Amino acid sequence: MAEAFNDKVLPVEKIARYAAVAQEIAAVLEGEPNLTARMATVAAMLANSFEGYFWTGFYVVDPEKPDELVVGPYQGTLGCLRIAFGRGVCGTAARSRQTQVVADVSAFPGHIACDSRSVSEIVVPVVDNQGRLIAVFDVDSEAPAAFDATDAEWLERILQDTFAD
Ligand code: SME
Repeated sequence: MAEAFNDKVLPVEKIARYAAVAQEIAAVLEGEPNLTARMATVAAMLANSFEGYFWTGFYVVDPEKPDELVVGPYQGTLGCLRIAFGRGVCGTAARSRQTQVVADVSAFPGHIACDSRSVSEIVVPVVDNQGRLIAVFDVDSEAPAAFDATDAEWLERILQDTFAD
């Protein structure tokens, strides 16, 4: 299981790799209800499965300030701590509850540059089993246009399976 989970044993093709990682995430998290543990595991396993993932992690809806995101479990360089709903790519995903795929972050109005090396990104809203927005999941890449509809489809599926089912 987790011991055997590494870059060398994962399929090369992107869809097959997502499918394998999705299965491993579900296996590792089986029976673990803690939300922080679940988020940390998703971030670590995805970041270690895809070379192009430069920053991988969660911005969680702050229970004290429901229109603000605060950084949660992540892998990568130092992330901004707080993002208001509506600001940047994460804030837009949180407000619209729609996945954002951004080929060139410099062209995105209000983009928040936590690390200038990030040039493209995908942000997926995370909802719980009652349909409440609990976080957004953000992956940044140093390559332009690193994410496409396959990434959106599989990340949405993994997040839905992990946090809403
Ligand atoms: N790129 C994000 C900010 C968060 S980080 O890059 C870690 C955004 O514009 O929402």
